[in-house]
Amino acid sequence: TSSFPVYTQEEVTKHRSLEEGVWVTYKGGVYDITEFVAMHPGGDKILLAAGGALEPFWALYAVHGQDHVLDILSGYKVGEL
Ligand code: HEM
Repeated sequence: TSSFPVYTQEEVTKHRSLEEGVWVTYKGGVYDITEFVAMHPGGDKILLAAGGALEPFWALYAVHGQDHVLDILSGYKVGEL
């Protein structure tokens, strides 16, 4: 069981700018990464995933397949799909 709220994809899709907040999904989790955007080692590319799934992008940029990257992401979890 989980204490996180459940969001629809439609709700996630509304969050794709720094003004509205930048949310992404990964393996059924919803993450508000607004505060991380400016800290991202890969720069503004991170905004390509705003409002949607990380999986297609992380499949291309395999640097994300490391525990320390997943640790960062987990800190921004706000809900589940
Ligand atoms: C590098 C985190 C999304 C493109 C990195 C690194 C971290 C990170 C920690 C450095 C990894 C290392 O060197 O060990 C994240 C997180 C994301 C995210 C937490 C989502 C919440 C994305 C997306 C893209 C992307 C969506 C592309 C569309 C890149 C690139 C690098 C990178 C190109 C390499 C930068 C370099 O070394 O010059 N990311 N990333 N990232 N990321 Fe992301």
